[in-house]
Amino acid sequence: MSNADKFKRYTVTAALPYANGPKHIGHLAGAYIPADLYARYLRLSGKDVVFVCGSDEHGTAIPNQAIKEGSTPQAIIDKYHVLNKESFEKLGISFDIYHRTSAPIHHETAQDFFRVLDKKEVFTIQTSEQYFDDNAQTFLADRYIIGTCPKCGFDGAYGDQCEKCGSALSPEELINPTSTLTGNKPVLKATKHWYLPMDRYENWLKDWILKGHKHDWRASVYGQCKSWIDGGLAARAITRDLDWGIDVPAADAEGKKLYVWFDAPIGYISATKQWALDHGKDWEPYWKAQDTKLVHFIGKDNIVFHCIIFPIMLHAHGEFILPESVPANEFMNLEGDKMSTSRGWSIEMHEYLHDFPTRVDELRYYLTAIAPETADSEFTWKDYQARINNELVAILGNYVNRVFVLMHKYFDGKMNTPLTTLTDQHLHTQLGVLYDEIGASFEAYKFRQAQQLVLDVARLGNKYLTDKEPWKTFGEQPEAAREALHECVLLIGHLATLMQPFMPETAQKLFRMLQLKESYQFNEAIVFEAGHQLNQPELLFQKVEDEIIERQIEKLNAKKASMETPKQSADIAPAKPAVSYDQFSEMDIRVGTIVAAEKVEKTQKLLKLTIDTGIDTRTVVSGIAEHYAPEAIIGQQVSILVNLAPRELKGIVSEGMILMAENAEGVLCFVTPSTAMPTGSTIR
Ligand code: 2FM
Ligand code: ZN
Repeated sequence: MSNADKFKRYTVTAALPYANGPKHIGHLAGAYIPADLYARYLRLSGKDVVFVCGSDEHGTAIPNQAIKEGSTPQAIIDKYHVLNKESFEKLGISFDIYHRTSAPIHHETAQDFFRVLDKKEVFTIQTSEQYFDDNAQTFLADRYIIGTCPKCGFDGAYGDQCEKCGSALSPEELINPTSTLTGNKPVLKATKHWYLPMDRYENWLKDWILKGHKHDWRASVYGQCKSWIDGGLAARAITRDLDWGIDVPAADAEGKKLYVWFDAPIGYISATKQWALDHGKDWEPYWKAQDTKLVHFIGKDNIVFHCIIFPIMLHAHGEFILPESVPANEFMNLEGDKMSTSRGWSIEMHEYLHDFPTRVDELRYYLTAIAPETADSEFTWKDYQARINNELVAILGNYVNRVFVLMHKYFDGKMNTPLTTLTDQHLHTQLGVLYDEIGASFEAYKFRQAQQLVLDVARLGNKYLTDKEPWKTFGEQPEAAREALHECVLLIGHLATLMQPFMPETAQKLFRMLQLKESYQFNEAIVFEAGHQLNQPELLFQKVEDEIIERQIEKLNAKKASMETPKQSADIAPAKPAVSYDQFSEMDIRVGTIVAAEKVEKTQKLLKLTIDTGIDTRTVVSGIAEHYAPEAIIGQQVSILVNLAPRELKGIVSEGMILMAENAEGVLCFVTPSTAMPTGSTIR
């Protein structure tokens, strides 16, 4: 029995992102795209799958962000849950459910889990001295405390985890600990907590991971686990003194919450429960049946939690299955530096979607092509452009387009004989080999390789078409031309089938062009009846022009600069003389939307913008042509001074002025409301 047949159902999880901010494309490449590829592959192979994810809404990350934004934890989770959920949807991440750990069903599930372990006397209860911030009058758990990582020397390690080297830490291990709430040095104060005695599970872990998964887990994942286990495991507190989180369901636990890394992975279970309730299913087999395969997709900073701590919890509970695999990815860097939202060196999912709403499959393709499966990888806009232009446009798009153009030119897009099997022996054999290799790559979580093999189908087709030269044979042997093109059409059907996990929208476009149904299973026959009519070709991929990527690089630099605290006050323009409130309030500034933009002829710097101000639609000439390509700013919200007296620039009457932020290097960006506001809203 092959490994794939051993399992009756599959539970696929992707790390629950903290709802403390937008998530970037590094997160997408690390966990969500690979998880989606795997889930889609399983579904297309006819498997019973549930693919769960959701927002991680507890832990100090949330109140920390609320402090930064002058908001409340509840408002923060509500805002970012929606933002991230919508981004994932638009990016085609096909979760069966995107749940929330603030949901009552999750609180109950996590508390029940705790109660079972408590009853089984799995926990130890200890009173110890922990860091306390006298000014904030609070214990400093997790992200409320930072310091130097004792393992790798990173300066910004949190009290529970170093995001640089992935180590799980305790606050007392940090060198030079500081409160993130006040910047104070903490003091020590006694407090009682529940601990998971991980040391008691060392031998069990040695058997399960070191013996059991030496050969099937990724070397990096196995290696990290081995070094933790070999280094000796210590008891770890799974409760906290916090006011945000899930109450500890035990006597004498007032004011205590469950540690976020205790409740978050249980979030996978509660998400499955909610999904089952929504669909009239039973959740239990997905978590308890031995013939269920549980796979966790995560980034490498989450390995210890998914390979050691959560499995100990599942094992100690006794009713649950363990993960079969945890294909953790390494990190994806951006233009030579680590991706970081707080440093402004990132492309957030919603930012990409805003700039490129019609290029979702291109992003999925590129992030898969450079997936950090075995080592850290690097996103660069130049490489993004090259991959799209040289692979998607030049190989895939070109093949499909050539076949459709020729079929329409010679045969009015009509197939005159029924067709379901490739008659060319070489094509037939090669395609069979590719199907097998693609399946094997998915089973081994080698998605980069699987995608390259899908592209090989297009390469195979291109070569076949070039060899057969139907444009030459059509004159004297029209049947030979027809036969060759029919083969090519059928091959496009298979290309679309195999492409579905990677580029679902493009696959659908192809099925539409072929006049077939919306989706095909991997082992399903594609049948063209005699007389089958093809549709006209649609544009599959648009070439990425230099201007587009130059603009993105500028934007990235501007974002980073805007986050940096100025090094020298010389960078900052001196303050202007004071104005009265009355003088200020004479200015009528509105939220406007750019509805059209074009370069002003014979100028370098000027763009002619058409702005919807909510009051009217008007023309504004703006000196931003060196910073923005006209087509890239349609739909952009801007701040516009609408009562500036009109003036003529290069023969165009400009009615108003767009407000721009400019740094010392002359980098410009629009001044835009932090969330979309109705056009015409006033700015005061
Ligand atoms: O690193 C993170 O963003 C965590 N919120 C991941 C949690 S994964 C799971 F355990 F829920
Ligand atoms: Zn570290």
